[in-house]
Amino acid sequence: MIHAKAINHIGIAVRSIDAHRAYYEQTLGARFEGIEEVPAQKLRVAFFALGPEGHQVRLELLEPTSPDSSVAAFLDKRGEGLHHVAYTVRGIHDRLAELRDAGVELIDQQPRPGAHHTRIAFLHPKSTGGVLTELCEPQGGDDAE
Ligand code: CO
Repeated sequence: MIHAKAINHIGIAVRSIDAHRAYYEQTLGARFEGIEEVPAQKLRVAFFALGPEGHQVRLELLEPTSPDSSVAAFLDKRGEGLHHVAYTVRGIHDRLAELRDAGVELIDQQPRPGAHHTRIAFLHPKSTGGVLTELCEPQGGDDAE
């Protein structure tokens, strides 16, 4: 099972981070934390944080850097907007194994490295009420390899 501890971040697909930065920073009032390149997924990702240190929720803007990025395909099909919800979990290996055993469709069979020194894995929206769902384990989780 997921046993979610918190919402870790919300992923939002955009065609251009630059075009939306002012909205998140100035209109919404979130703290801009920086931009990371994620070459493995052909993405640029910008992070904005809300809430007190240690209990913050991030907004993750996902901008494809190539037309064959999965986010580019998403944008072509659905346009800009909500892309995924990420939940903080502990023991991501065990969580994935339990979910697989329960018949949940996994996109990632094994955790992979995410931004901010996390390990992440995606669950298929078919199994999660239509919401692309990311499990996200911060560094120092309890199932170290
Ligand atoms: Co994410």
